[in-house]
Amino acid sequence: PAPGWAIEADVVVVGSGVAGLTVALRCAARGLSTVVVTKARLDDGSTRWAQGGIAAALGEGDSPEQHLQDTLVAGAGLCDEEAVRVLVTEGPGAVRRLIGTGARFDTDPSSGAIELTREGGHHRRRIAHAGGDATGAEISRALVDAVREQGLRTIENALVLDLLTDAEGRTAGVTLHVMGEGQHDGVGAVHAPVVVLATGGMGQVFSATTNPAVSTGDGVALALRAGAEVSDLEFVQFHPTVLFLGPGSEGQQPLVSEAVRGEGAHLVDADGVRFMLGRHELAELAPRDVVAKGIMRRMHEQGAEHMFLDATHFGAAMWEQRFPTILAACRAHGIDPVTEPVPVSPAAHYASGGVRTDLDGRTTVPGLYACGEVACTGVHGANRLASNSLLEGLVFAERIAAAVAPGPVGPPVAGGERVPLLAPEARREIQRVMTRGAGVIRTAASLDEAAAGLESLSRQAAEDAGSTGKSAEPGVESWEATNLLMVSRVLVAAARERAETRGCHWREDHPDRDDSAWRRHLVLRLPSDRR
Ligand code: SIN
Repeated sequence: PAPGWAIEADVVVVGSGVAGLTVALRCAARGLSTVVVTKARLDDGSTRWAQGGIAAALGEGDSPEQHLQDTLVAGAGLCDEEAVRVLVTEGPGAVRRLIGTGARFDTDPSSGAIELTREGGHHRRRIAHAGGDATGAEISRALVDAVREQGLRTIENALVLDLLTDAEGRTAGVTLHVMGEGQHDGVGAVHAPVVVLATGGMGQVFSATTNPAVSTGDGVALALRAGAEVSDLEFVQFHPTVLFLGPGSEGQQPLVSEAVRGEGAHLVDADGVRFMLGRHELAELAPRDVVAKGIMRRMHEQGAEHMFLDATHFGAAMWEQRFPTILAACRAHGIDPVTEPVPVSPAAHYASGGVRTDLDGRTTVPGLYACGEVACTGVHGANRLASNSLLEGLVFAERIAAAVAPGPVGPPVAGGERVPLLAPEARREIQRVMTRGAGVIRTAASLDEAAAGLESLSRQAAEDAGSTGKSAEPGVESWEATNLLMVSRVLVAAARERAETRGCHWREDHPDRDDSAWRRHLVLRLPSDRR
């Protein structure tokens, strides 16, 4: 559809989590005219659901070097060491600047020092938290307040459709579909020489995920349609412990933070046995992929649908002070973690890969930047270390804001929806296909089946568009389904190709890590006839 209205800016930031709002605030502070567009409300993304916290070498005796080592180990040979070095050395300063922006972290009442906890893969207490287990909510509150106080231009309920480019192929803005925002309604455009994607993840590719409903891979899909490179999409991290709500439970699942294990909770099987002991030197605090696999294996061995997280020894006071969000979620589902072990199982949590960037967030399309979960900066490798994601969003957002240099750009000549739109109902079918074939445990056969299922959905959409002359009714849900299909196809293509098990990519038919063939990234770009 042709844009019905257009506004101008130096920078348009797409997304409003920690990465997006940090870029926007820092760009505005540089005097750049900045617009934030976001698909739902400003605080509706993944950031506000983050529980455990934000990792940074802030504690006595800790150092960026030790943080770097833990990150590299978790990343299973695929981290970009230079990017990790940037993350861990700039991290502590970025957290302090976030505090300067208004975020309030939990502190030790006697010393006033920031309280730090542990999570999987960290050899030290290094995770700052807020409100006990509501770190993301506090970060989101502080950033949204700052954006409002500083009067930044924001457009909510705005799904970004496509990148606009000029005759030289340089970024010229975005087209977007806005619902119910009065002045800017319907399909419009923000013209800007700099576009920053900060759209978060794609957990909604799977049936059960910790991600909110808005995490539909929109940024990766837009970047693919714009011809940008994406990397490492096969590395989908499954969080080991979400509250088990029953077999086949779909949609966003309540997270039970790693920090609960960091404070001493034990994973036990149906017989009450601590099955992670002996599997890894860190037992329950092994890197996330190791714990998720440990849980899955024990579930298979016992024919069980879940394992248990036992933190009954915490007592009521600790549960109430330290983990009020999780306590409330469990109680809302009839489980009292103070007196009984919590049933838990893994669910899709984080896309370690994404739109490929350099150390200043530049993608391979001039003027297009990416940061946060949508990006692949190289810091996560094959498996992200717990609580490095909020930190990555912060650090690389600051770097983008320092690096952007809005220059002259010609009038837009390209951009606009070309692929046939899927009907909204396709979303559940994509999720089923992906969960069955490309979930925690993958094989060549399961991935072939997933590829065939996705292909058939795509063929169906093209046939419908061909026979009726138009695709599904344009709207957020049909664009989301279309984006989910696009990112799923690329994810499955990468997962089929990587014939090894590494980090969070688990191929049952290739159970070992193969450094001779696979210590490399899969970088993909859509050919122009498939965009
Ligand atoms: C958690 O609190 O367990 C989530 C932390 C993360 O995903 O980094």
